[in-house]
Amino acid sequence: MAARINTSLHNALSFLKPFNTPLNTKPFSFRRNSFRFSKKLPYYSQFSSGKRALYCTSSSQESTVDEGETFVLTTPLYYVNAPPHMGSAYTTIAADSIARFQRLLGKKVIFITGTDEHGEKIATSAAANGRNPPEHCDLISQSYRTLWKDLDIAYDKFIRTTDPKHEAIVKEFYARVFANGDIYRADYEGLYCVNCEEYKDEKELLENNCCPVHQMPCVARKEDNYFFALSKYQKPLEDILAQNPRFVQPSYRLNEVQSWIKSGLRDFSISRALVDWGIPVPDDDKQTIYVWFDALLGYISALTEDNKQQNLETAVSLGWPASLHLIGKDILRFHAVYWPAMLMSAGLELPKMVFGHGFLTKDGMKMGKSLGNTLEPFELVQKFGPDAVRYFFLREVEFGNDGDYSEDRFIKIVNAHLANTIGNLLNRTLGLLKKNCESTLVVDSTVAAEGVPLKDTVEKLVEKARTNYENLSLSSACEAVLEIGNAGNTYMDQRAPWFLFKQGGVSAEEAAKDLVIILEVMRVIAVALSPVAPCLSLRIYSQLGYTEDQFNSITWSDTKWGGLKGGQVMEQASPVFARIELNPEKEEDEKKPKVGKKTGKAKVKVVE
Ligand code: MSP
Repeated sequence: MAARINTSLHNALSFLKPFNTPLNTKPFSFRRNSFRFSKKLPYYSQFSSGKRALYCTSSSQESTVDEGETFVLTTPLYYVNAPPHMGSAYTTIAADSIARFQRLLGKKVIFITGTDEHGEKIATSAAANGRNPPEHCDLISQSYRTLWKDLDIAYDKFIRTTDPKHEAIVKEFYARVFANGDIYRADYEGLYCVNCEEYKDEKELLENNCCPVHQMPCVARKEDNYFFALSKYQKPLEDILAQNPRFVQPSYRLNEVQSWIKSGLRDFSISRALVDWGIPVPDDDKQTIYVWFDALLGYISALTEDNKQQNLETAVSLGWPASLHLIGKDILRFHAVYWPAMLMSAGLELPKMVFGHGFLTKDGMKMGKSLGNTLEPFELVQKFGPDAVRYFFLREVEFGNDGDYSEDRFIKIVNAHLANTIGNLLNRTLGLLKKNCESTLVVDSTVAAEGVPLKDTVEKLVEKARTNYENLSLSSACEAVLEIGNAGNTYMDQRAPWFLFKQGGVSAEEAAKDLVIILEVMRVIAVALSPVAPCLSLRIYSQLGYTEDQFNSITWSDTKWGGLKGGQVMEQASPVFARIELNPEKEEDEKKPKVGKKTGKAKVKVVE
């Protein structure tokens, strides 16, 4: 069935009454083919001025994110149709690591996350669970917060789209767009995917009108809705992307966005006549605002402060535009096409960057609540701890690409990297230090490393890690940190300090210096790994004789060689990362993929 829009200016004029807001003094003036971009909306055209650094330059050497003082980053606001699964946790883990890295650089960070609580999909799942929508939303939204706590996610703002302050901002935004003449009323007939909450083009659907993401048939709908005049923004969007190709990352996603725009942008409906569970359209309480036209505003309403004035202008002044929207690739169109156009219409600045990551998959299919092939993050964290879960997904999946999960691989990776390369090295070194030096460093790490090439190697790898964090190449950042651990292990094996101690005299003095060097390597690892595995880093730091407060005040400059000083007393060696042991009888069975199943067969064993 072909989607059909009947637009009639007469219709629109008769339905739309001016709102009682000062912004709405302009008469309704949308004309389908005669639009000229308003001079009052200059934001997109300011992009080339270079004054506001709205986006990054294209040199591959330069960082992906800009160096402004405040770094505002967002995760999507998660639907509360069901509790979080590992796919939803993935974006948030990545965002948290980026936020932690930016804080290490000394920036003020506002890390925004939250829940998307309106719309048909949520109302249906509330009913299916025998709850009313508000109760259902409270419960599921809380399960997201609980998971974020379990995963050591340090967000600054958590916005719920049912929060009254959010509703006020949505209405004000709607009024601005309306006042700009970009909202009109029309009939719409098309195929709707409730899981995507989106009308689909017939040509993008699979057999039986199935949505390619959710593999479920779309339903035919005919509605009388309010529309947003997206088509007016075709040229401005083309210009923005041409002037600022790094707006969409990774670069291969830009082509996708450009080709959507090139194929012609169609206005989209921003209200629903058949859905009660939503924010009423201003001046027409028979319709509610479309979930996306509601939820995207959460990125701005999240900036408001409780008990302070709650309006768009105040919210914007508190941190807009966002530096980075982190999203999955399935919602790229909303963020890289709809949202910028909506912002232009409202006269607001655009975010500086949208990064669309790939999917965690199961048998090549997106892991998701609708498909029922999810991996339980609560179970995973309970079994293996937050550091292992965070590290595995960030290290294993190249950020931007898809990645498949298997428990077998999970255990191999975290054991090899965190328990062996990092944990064991610290353990062995502290054991030797206790035995031979009363757990005390004999000399400053700077002095110990004089003329030692390992120091230069570590410095280069730290730089590599930094560049990768900056470019959001999180897997490569982890790899660079692991290479520091490998270099430390190689040094330990080549120098064999246990043997030098036995020789005594000058050899023993050299061995004592070697331990200082390796422990300094561990300290650098702790700082450089802290965005990804904060608890593990804290445990390492504590064993090196620092307090939790000292750890909490580290910055990226602490990756510089020379932190450990002579005379510093180390803690007793105790494992910082518990090795995961497989139950031997179950080992065969463990090789099978475990996504979507409860397992409980692997057990965690402390490394001796
Ligand atoms: N509510 C909208 C977002 C509104 S933002 C203003 C939404 N919610 S969602 O819960 O369906 O998805 C939230 C995020 O989780 C999306 O970025 C999506 O890509 C991500 N993921 C959901 N399943 C995923 C995987 N299997 N793998 C990786 N990320 C996935 O869309």
